Amino acid sequence: MSATDDRAAKERATDHLEAAYSLETPEDSIQLYASWADSYDETFIEATGYVYHEGLVGAFLDAGGSAGGAVLDVGCGTGVVGIELGDQGETTVDGLDISPEMLAVAATKITAHGMKAYRNLLEVDLTGPVDLPADSYTGIVSAGTFTFGHLPPSGIDPLLRLGAPSAVCAIGVNAEHFTEQGFERYFADRAAEGAITVPELVDIPIYGAFESEHGGTRATVAVFQILR
Ligand SMILES: C[S@@+](CC[C@H](N)C(=O)[O-])C[C@H]1O[C@@H](n2cnc3c(N)ncnc32)[C@H](O)[C@@H]1O
Repeated sequence: MSATDDRAAKERATDHLEAAYSLETPEDSIQLYASWADSYDETFIEATGYVYHEGLVGAFLDAGGSAGGAVLDVGCGTGVVGIELGDQGETTVDGLDISPEMLAVAATKITAHGMKAYRNLLEVDLTGPVDLPADSYTGIVSAGTFTFGHLPPSGIDPLLRLGAPSAVCAIGVNAEHFTEQGFERYFADRAAEGAITVPELVDIPIYGAFESEHGGTRATVAVFQILR
């Protein structure tokens, strides 16, 4: 790619990111991601040198997550987290997302081991009722979904029901959002109630090579276990 093309790609990625940060409702998300799904990998993941999925899955596995259980990838989008999990040896990964178009792209993803990245893909709006069986997953992960304009802390409530007792969870939250939007308080309250262990907070970069005002953005990954 020429330097001019590279600059244009990074500008396009910044525009997409700002559109994503200014979403206000689940309907806004459905609309934005419907139009972005086909080009998301090129115009966002590649253009920004996205590394969030690697750090997130690393934090999950370091905490003893899965290795043989069923893992739920929340807000799976086009599937970068599912591929990373599969590349690292996880064989049973479900993806959940509000956007049918993003899920359709995720359905095409194949891991380095030649397996489909996802067993099941679930179209679910986490701001509404979640009609899935309790205790279904021994691991739950999420990247990029608890961020500006997307899901608030209450979107984690249904996940605590879907996770089995002792399930390891690694929930990435935009670091600028973590305290300000109530995630720190949410996790502290759930831990005080005895619903989860006190989370370990792992700080990771979101982008590898993104010359933009957003280039240095980091995520706080809350790693904890479900207690029941
Ligand atoms: C920035 S993308 C992240 C996708 C992927 N995890 C990644 O790291 O590339 C955020 C995803 O959250 C999904 N999302 C937004 N609001 C949601 C909701 N209310 N319920 C479920 N998924 C939602 C979007 O459709 C989108 O695919």
